[in-house]
Amino acid sequence: MENLFLSMQGINKRYAGVQALDNVDFAVRQGEIHCLAGTNGSGKSTLVKIISGVVQPDPGAEIVINGNRVHHLSSMESIRNGIEVIYQDLSLFPNLTVQENISISETVSSRRRIISWKKSRETAKRAMERIGINLDLDAVVSGLSMADQQLVAISRALTGNLKLLIMDEPTTALTKKEIDALLAVVLDMKAKGIATLFISHKLNEVMEVAERVTVLRDGKSIGCFSSNELDDKKIEYHMTGTTTTYSPYHAVPDTGQVPLLQTRELSKKDNFSGINLTVYPGEIVGITGLLGSGRTELALALFGLNPPDSGEIRLSGKPTVIGSVKQAMHHGIAYVPENRLAEGLILDQSIGKNIVITVLDRLLTALRFIDKEKVNSRITHSVNELSIKIPGPEAAVKTLSGGNQQRVVLAKWIASNPGLFILDNPTVGIDIAAKSSIHAVIKQLALNGMGIIIISDEIPEVLYNCNRVLVMNRGRIIREFVSRDTTEEEIQAFIEATAV
Ligand SMILES: Nc1ncnc2c1ncn2[C@@H]1O[C@H](COP(=O)(O)OP(=O)(O)OP(=O)(O)O)[C@@H](O)[C@H]1O
Ligand SMILES: [Mg+2]
Repeated sequence: MENLFLSMQGINKRYAGVQALDNVDFAVRQGEIHCLAGTNGSGKSTLVKIISGVVQPDPGAEIVINGNRVHHLSSMESIRNGIEVIYQDLSLFPNLTVQENISISETVSSRRRIISWKKSRETAKRAMERIGINLDLDAVVSGLSMADQQLVAISRALTGNLKLLIMDEPTTALTKKEIDALLAVVLDMKAKGIATLFISHKLNEVMEVAERVTVLRDGKSIGCFSSNELDDKKIEYHMTGTTTTYSPYHAVPDTGQVPLLQTRELSKKDNFSGINLTVYPGEIVGITGLLGSGRTELALALFGLNPPDSGEIRLSGKPTVIGSVKQAMHHGIAYVPENRLAEGLILDQSIGKNIVITVLDRLLTALRFIDKEKVNSRITHSVNELSIKIPGPEAAVKTLSGGNQQRVVLAKWIASNPGLFILDNPTVGIDIAAKSSIHAVIKQLALNGMGIIIISDEIPEVLYNCNRVLVMNRGRIIREFVSRDTTEEEIQAFIEATAV
């Protein structure tokens, strides 16, 4: 008999028009590292919400935790059983200190009116010691790196009687080094008998430590596999039922033309300096480098959100000041932010409204009425182009899965038909099967003459889609690679050698 911590049988969850989970069985062993995989919208987050008691399954489900049948799993009940979830936003209190954040649940649950500062400090220290980390207890959380914030969230989970830690997309905002540190913490927790359940689209990272992988497809469980019998191709096959062959090709820009974008010695104190960047019509330029190398700050400057101190921006040869987002959009610049869910969408509004919001002007009739037919055909086109899985265009964006929300943001900016398109980590949170179709859409846009900048942590993403790959480091462009003449290994080695 294996030692199961959690066992679930016959899990169903139906939302209006969508069978999110269809008779799923799922189990996690004590102290096991388990990965939940599946394409966007396959039901991963829904299953996690049921495990954490946030969402109730449809009648007929059987849930056993630690050998005890649970009849109604509320979030209190889930936490009482040692289950904690770290969501992508980490749910920390940014203006409180490390100590206050880690000890918060204990502080709240103790009935005493006066909070013992000493006790809270002890609790926070002990939690950090359990995973061998040592952050400044008095540091304010908003000033920490994403990786350290994540460690605070894990430490907070450890103040209770933790048995199962669930992490939804934990590695997206971390560097390679920080991911290794996180995985070391997870292995350390395993040694103490604490199980971890990962949900991640970056499977190669998680697979380094995961023992078993459960794959969901369209709400059904395809099976639970031992990780040493899997590779990328097999997982993709289980997830989608097919495999794609990926053939890189590069658009050929016309460098005889006036560049769409040319910057001269663009600088902003503590952000970036001496940036000379050229993008021709039809060209895809990649920017990579470590997190915090100034890539996003540069992108924000080009989109009017972070005005430079000095230097020059020329658009189609004309010196231009981009002082606001409105001006940027007026010049045909679009920017898809990395943190799309917070910045890119109106969650309560319908999918359709979100897609056409940037182009409503163009879809007005002569009498300034909204041309419903045009609007609808634009929406249908976008939904098909990016294979967005939606119940209908009227549904609110917040009812979509994370990856499908990402696609809505992309669709919205593509619909605005920009001249210069800047994409910050365009496929974060998007499943491996859909990644290549999004890359194909981006390449098609370039073939139509758009200039595109892709910022990405994933070297293959820039290498196989871009004509040139620029490496940024501490605010400067320190190297340019021509994609045809280089390899993933060469770029990786260069980044590692120049990292401090
Ligand atoms: N509150 C809701 N109302 C209606 N439908 C919902 C709701 N929450 C989820 N769904 C639907 O359930 C299905 C599964 O969504 P879920 O969020 O579990 O997917 P996921 O596997 O986490 O995907 P991703 O990788 O994109 O995050 C999707 O079709 C989604 O639209
Ligand atoms: Mg999800």
